[in-house]
Amino acid sequence: MKFTTTFLHLLLIFATDAVYGSHNYATVATNGQPFPWAERRLPDNIFPVHYNLLIHPNLTTLKFTGSVKIEVDVTHNTNTVILHSKHLQIVKASIEDEMDDSSLGVALQVLEYPPHEQIALLSANTLLAGKKYFVYLSYAANLSEGFHGFYKSTYPSKGGETRILASTHFEPTSARMAFPCFDEPAFKANYSITIRRGAEHIALSNMPKVKTVHLGDGLYEDHFDISVRMSTYLVAFIVCDFKSVSKMTSTGVKISVYAVPDKWNQTHYALEAAVKLLEFYEKYFNIYYPLPKQDLVAIPDFQLGAMENWGLTTYRETSLLFDPQTSSVSDKLWVTLVIGHELAHQWFGNLVTMEWWNDIWLNEGFARYMEIVSVEATYPELQADDYLLGTCFAAIGRDSMNSSRPITTAAESPTEINEMFDTVSYEKGACILHMLRSYLSKDVFQSGIVRYLRKYSYRNAKNEDLWNSMANTCSDEDFTSGEFCYSSNQAFKNRYKYGGEHLDLKTMMNTWTLQKGIPLVIVDQQDNIVRIRQERFLRGIFPTDPVWPSLQEGYLWHIPLTYITSNSRNIQRHLLETKSGVIDLRGNVSWIKFNTDMNGYYIVHYEGDGWDKIIKLLKENHTLLSHKDRTHLIHNAFQLVSAGKLSLDRALDLLLYLRFETHNVPLLQGLGYLETIFRMIEKAGNPDVAQNLKNYILKYFQDVIDKQTWSDEGSISDRRLRSEVLNLACDFDHPMSVKKANELFKEWVRSNGTLSLPTDVIMMVYSVGAKSAEGWDFLLEKYKISLSGAEQSKILSALINTKDVDKLLRLLHMGMKEDTIRMQDLPSAIYSVAINPVGHSLAWNFVKKYWNELVEKFELGSNSIRTIIIGTTSHFSSKEDLNEVKMFFESIKEHSSQLRATQMCLENIEKNIRWLERNLETLKTWLLKNIMGF
Ligand code: BES
Ligand code: ZN
Repeated sequence: MKFTTTFLHLLLIFATDAVYGSHNYATVATNGQPFPWAERRLPDNIFPVHYNLLIHPNLTTLKFTGSVKIEVDVTHNTNTVILHSKHLQIVKASIEDEMDDSSLGVALQVLEYPPHEQIALLSANTLLAGKKYFVYLSYAANLSEGFHGFYKSTYPSKGGETRILASTHFEPTSARMAFPCFDEPAFKANYSITIRRGAEHIALSNMPKVKTVHLGDGLYEDHFDISVRMSTYLVAFIVCDFKSVSKMTSTGVKISVYAVPDKWNQTHYALEAAVKLLEFYEKYFNIYYPLPKQDLVAIPDFQLGAMENWGLTTYRETSLLFDPQTSSVSDKLWVTLVIGHELAHQWFGNLVTMEWWNDIWLNEGFARYMEIVSVEATYPELQADDYLLGTCFAAIGRDSMNSSRPITTAAESPTEINEMFDTVSYEKGACILHMLRSYLSKDVFQSGIVRYLRKYSYRNAKNEDLWNSMANTCSDEDFTSGEFCYSSNQAFKNRYKYGGEHLDLKTMMNTWTLQKGIPLVIVDQQDNIVRIRQERFLRGIFPTDPVWPSLQEGYLWHIPLTYITSNSRNIQRHLLETKSGVIDLRGNVSWIKFNTDMNGYYIVHYEGDGWDKIIKLLKENHTLLSHKDRTHLIHNAFQLVSAGKLSLDRALDLLLYLRFETHNVPLLQGLGYLETIFRMIEKAGNPDVAQNLKNYILKYFQDVIDKQTWSDEGSISDRRLRSEVLNLACDFDHPMSVKKANELFKEWVRSNGTLSLPTDVIMMVYSVGAKSAEGWDFLLEKYKISLSGAEQSKILSALINTKDVDKLLRLLHMGMKEDTIRMQDLPSAIYSVAINPVGHSLAWNFVKKYWNELVEKFELGSNSIRTIIIGTTSHFSSKEDLNEVKMFFESIKEHSSQLRATQMCLENIEKNIRWLERNLETLKTWLLKNIMGF
């Protein structure tokens, strides 16, 4: 009998689904029957139109049941419905025809194919093209234990008992863990969601609640309004007992911020920021936020920083809550940027979604960029614009390695898709958008994205659509007809600006999105003639290496160059579309500085005496250049050292001007390089050189250190500088700083932790305090009872600063066992332990030992796993380290071969080895010479 059914199904499949092909009989369902679909991507014969979803979680048994009715359109005849489902136990499936309900209730056979997280519903009747059907599914599942799907989170109440809540996180591929669905971003549909809950809880979802039905027995059913058309990964619901604050925006959107009841008083800043930012975006995009409400919810257990579910954005507590007593100025900037990011997604991502995950940068690159643009506009005092430099430096760090990838990269499996949420999509994406905005002008850029958002609203888009919208400046009428046109004023403006040539944005931008890496522009200036050429910039690989030519082959960028010269501080432009070019400056020029304010995504090398001129200029009058230009020069110089183009002593000579630097950004950039070199040398076992470098740093920056007060006074820039400088001073045992921190710590302990410390120096005070055994224990106790995530993260950093290896191990185990330290905080804790000089090998051994558990919790390809791998190996710089890491990756081949992070990590260690080989002697000599200079 069984055989016959199988045989019949096979026949049916052949008869109706031939066009959808790929019947590879290797795809065998869990029951042994052939599974009728072999691709990871769903067939395009059925489209969901509307989901009616009922979810009933039981927060005591930690299980939930659900039922879904999906209205679908059929475009090609078929007998099978393939959709996603993961870890759901399907209880019943049926399909109903629009007109005729005779088949109502007839249970269909359901096949499961876990490798692709798919199920197939087999229908005896052919579903006909052009007709509408309703798919019914009821199912049961456990609340997920990790951070994906519909998962459990807990928090301690004031009375000490554990409270439970359930929340969702779906992006990119976990909606299928909460309900069977067509879980791909292009299958947009409307959702009507109903949640059952007890009287002690509230339920939240994307849309406002329209009614509550009392079902008896203390059970309530909240019905939410029908949603706009959206992708599955944006659906969200939460059952919890949180408290909220609310406010209306000027256009009538109700904003609410939710948190666990005891943290309710930390929600006010987020509310104010969210109102301002949403109002900003409505104006900037010239499109109203389409939902009546926006809830921002702080979830106690949250793997990431935040998530942009439409109308119900979710956050890690430290990304949303602001506690005036313990949150520093950097914490405030962070919260504002994160809200700016998730609200930007309500347009970029939610309203217009990338067609597939290969273009996730259209969501994330834009959100990362818009967070800076929006915060700069709404909170200028936070100086978010300075943050952009760091964003681009991060992008370059990754993109100058051969293991980088193009912004648009094919991704099919959930691991590959997860890996797309990386520095390339986020930071490089943001930086090339910034370059484009500087190139087109702010106004043209803005109207281009408005056009793009309008045209693709409630739909999906790809790279090309963006470039066409940007270059194509149609009037509104032309635009709505969807025709390509060149008739508007803006197109004229572009032509005028760029010398009459048609602006071929697509060709230009393809060189930045479809090709990996970053160009190096080599400048050779002889009086007024500047010869320029481009090559691919690579760190750790030198022109003398045999692989060099093959790594350069075929790379060419269209680079919108900008420069200023000794003669003119007005920005000049030159579009370099070929390997080399010549610029005639006309007139006598002593120096030239390319990539003004670092508005472009390229590194610059000045050949001949170019760097000498720049070093001299900085020494003599650094204020002739903007603070961004100065920061950029420091960055460039040290990048060129890693690429073997500039000797380390020249880069260090350039830093000598910092004695006169008063701006925090270049100062911290220079200090940052010295610190990084120090850590590498210290780890590599060169105590004398390390000591000399430490002495040099302390002496050289003595004035800056001495100037700092232990307070929260001054501008944002002063405050940021203070935190960083005092942190380094304490770390380097600067006697006066350590003394001051100790005094404050003692006072704080004496007050039993009730004394309010200046928020910007809390971290140093705790870190110095944690050096004694009693101080450490006191801090751990405070960690357990603190209600401020901002404070807890400062305490945890301080605890991890200890030199006691047993304590470090104890902390890691606490994170692993979820005792006191939440699992969500483990990746960054591992990272911090690895930075601690006594924790290097401890962290690495811990990762090796618990690899499987870590992967299970955080998922292969996630940012957390990347942090763990890169964090524990980034300071490795010997051949032994390299072998050791290789051997481990070999032993977990099944995982490691799937990961990009492992490639990155090996290449990075190789780069460190070469850096030391090349530069250690130079550093030694330079230090001896310059320490004597004091
Ligand atoms: N859409 C992402 C969340 C996300 C990240 C989902 C990775 C799936 C995989 C969200 O908008 C985001 O970008 N969050 C970031 C940055 C945020 C803190 C500004 C994050 O969580 O790290
Ligand atoms: Zn994002």
